[in-house]
Amino acid sequence: MANLLLLLLLICTTPAVLSARRCSDCGSSPVPYPLSTGPDCGDQSYKIRCSNRLFFDTLNNSYPISSISPDTQTLTIEPSPFLSNTCITQDISTVGVQLNSSLPFNITSSNTIVFLNCSQSLLSSPLNCTAESLCHTYLNGTSENDGAIGACRNAPICCTFRAGGSSTSYMIRVRESGCRAYRSFVNLNPSLPVSRWPEAGMELQWVSPPEPVCTIQSDCDSDSTCGPDPNSNGGVNRCFCHSGFHWDPIAALCARDVTCQDRDGCGRDHTALIAGLTSGLSVAVVAAVIGFFVYRRQKRIKEARDRLTREREDILSSGGVKSAKLFTGKEIKKATNNFSTDRLLGAGGYGEVYYGKLDDDTVVAVKCAKLGNAKGIEQVLNEVRILCQVNHKNLVRILGCCVELEQPLLVYEYVPNGTLSDHLYLQRKLLTWDSRLSIAHATAEGLAYLHFSAVPPIYHRDVKSSNILLDDKLNAKVADFGLSRLAHTDLSHVSTCAQGTLGYLDPEYYRNYQLTDKSDVYSFGVVLLELLTSQKAIDFSRPQDDVNLAIYVQRLVEEERIMDAVDPALKVGASSVELETMKALGFLAVSCLEEKRQSRPSMKEVAEEIEYIITIAAAKQ
Ligand SMILES: *[C@@H]1O[C@H](CO)[C@@H](O)[C@H](O)[C@H]1NC(C)=O
Ligand SMILES: *[C@@H]1O[C@H](CO)[C@@H](O)[C@H](O)[C@H]1NC(C)=O
Ligand SMILES: *[C@@H]1O[C@H](CO)[C@@H](O)[C@H](O)[C@H]1NC(C)=O
Ligand SMILES: *[C@@H]1O[C@H](CO)[C@@H](O)[C@H](O)[C@H]1NC(C)=O
Ligand SMILES: *[C@@H]1O[C@H](CO)[C@@H](O)[C@H](O)[C@H]1NC(C)=O
Ligand SMILES: *[C@@H]1O[C@H](CO)[C@@H](O)[C@H](O)[C@H]1NC(C)=O
Repeated sequence: MANLLLLLLLICTTPAVLSARRCSDCGSSPVPYPLSTGPDCGDQSYKIRCSNRLFFDTLNNSYPISSISPDTQTLTIEPSPFLSNTCITQDISTVGVQLNSSLPFNITSSNTIVFLNCSQSLLSSPLNCTAESLCHTYLNGTSENDGAIGACRNAPICCTFRAGGSSTSYMIRVRESGCRAYRSFVNLNPSLPVSRWPEAGMELQWVSPPEPVCTIQSDCDSDSTCGPDPNSNGGVNRCFCHSGFHWDPIAALCARDVTCQDRDGCGRDHTALIAGLTSGLSVAVVAAVIGFFVYRRQKRIKEARDRLTREREDILSSGGVKSAKLFTGKEIKKATNNFSTDRLLGAGGYGEVYYGKLDDDTVVAVKCAKLGNAKGIEQVLNEVRILCQVNHKNLVRILGCCVELEQPLLVYEYVPNGTLSDHLYLQRKLLTWDSRLSIAHATAEGLAYLHFSAVPPIYHRDVKSSNILLDDKLNAKVADFGLSRLAHTDLSHVSTCAQGTLGYLDPEYYRNYQLTDKSDVYSFGVVLLELLTSQKAIDFSRPQDDVNLAIYVQRLVEEERIMDAVDPALKVGASSVELETMKALGFLAVSCLEEKRQSRPSMKEVAEEIEYIITIAAAKQ
């Protein structure tokens, strides 16, 4: 039986049962746990309100919620409107935003607040009300005809401050004897011109929820036990996770303490395991286990199909997407010669990619999910959604999609020269040092665009050399957004199973299941090492403790032997300046691999650093 338990533990899938019940969507907005729109879902301390759309109720007022980020446990509320054509916000009647400080929400320090139409007395406050204050920049950058904000230009005194201090984490006070209006901006970069400031909005954060409350065992799922809460003064029971599991307040479930590592290894190939176990187990038990998985698989396929139908309607009703066209099934079948096998460019866990030629002779790549493969369908749909929002020369360009056939299809530009990984390991063509630097730079720029210019930011989550395409001039284009996520998105596809690829995956992920922009930085660091060493991220032909390229190079760096890691073919005939730039790139790569996320540079900094290295290399003569 112990073996059976082991088998069950090894199989890692998207959790089917949530130990905590998530509230159903409000209109089209998901309501992630612990937020609660009703008495029988979410955690009752985290009440918000659904009335056609989501609202956040403060002590005396109510604000529409514009976005929710379960990953960071934050939500953003819309600002109070101005009273018609005056520089006074409506919530002056309730003294601005006042949160109940007994509830688990507070105002974060990401908010820059501009206080407008302030009284003289504010000049002696600790706020910055000088002529250089950002509030003047804001007003000056706003048109005089811009309704009420225009009116604020006639109010002489305004001030700026950063929220989240001890006195401002629960209130932003607007009143007759102080300031009569305000605007808040989340993560404002004050060096940007006002036209590029984010939409006004105020970010609130919630405290991680404890385990869900229960009264009897059946309120909990099979991974937890209903028991008294030691932190309450009796009377409250909660679902505590069994040993081997821990409470994950973001995914709202008991997560296994160990994770499996390779996404291709997740939820697949149980057959070998089952076969291995057959000898020791009675046939009946095995049959039951197989029956269970078949049942669960069927259920998931049905769910995915329903979802696909909904998504398809969404995409169709929105009339396609900005930069992309909706192709008909007929067009695609014609372009790919009815998905003929000689057009097959590649295949993976998600499905297949075909070469195609449209009627106007445009050459395209058509990616399609495997029929009935729920994960693959998810990934292709996700990629359609993500790619439709981006446009950058170093990201593969989407031409359109087709949601008419049973499996969704993604049509993107055909990039003729294969992947970086093919170049380094299959064709073994020696890429020159200069071309490697330029591939590194282009890739970094593409990723920096996703992190800093896309709104909301996008995390790629599967950066690796086999996802970097090269065109005929060796220009790099980042591809495969199947696992990408908008920085705020619902958690319905959070999996307790590691996403991403072994050898490239941020080690912090194993600790908290969160992938951030810095996880992409980590993966990119591994790609830099590949460019430097021409060695694979994972290679079992290297000595045991050097199998993982990141660890191998980090060890060489500690031994002050970084140049020993560089591909010998690159060092042949290299000038001393070139050798220096190799070393510099090596150190940059290692900084991307820092254990602590905070110590890693941002993708923007990485791109700038590579640009700098290129200028040094260019001056080599
Ligand atoms: C500023 O607030 C005062 C007091 O409420 C109000 O009388 C005045 O109209 C406001 N200024 C502007 C420009 O709206
Ligand atoms: C806010 O509501 C409370 C009751 O919930 C009331 O006592 C208080 O006066 C109200 N404050 C304002 C400024 O409206
Ligand atoms: C603040 O929240 C606490 C905890 O839910 C509640 O007991 C209290 O009544 C709330 N206060 C007000 C003024 O609504
Ligand atoms: C007020 O803010 C401006 C712009 O950020 C800054 O240059 C100035 O030094 C600040 N003044 C004070 C007194 O903090
Ligand atoms: C206000 O904006 C104008 C351009 O729109 C600029 O020339 C001027 O210097 C700005 N004034 C201040 C005080 O920022
Ligand atoms: C707001 O709540 C978060 C989450 O518990 C906490 O980390 C942060 O310190 C709080 N901020 C303030 C200013 O109290």
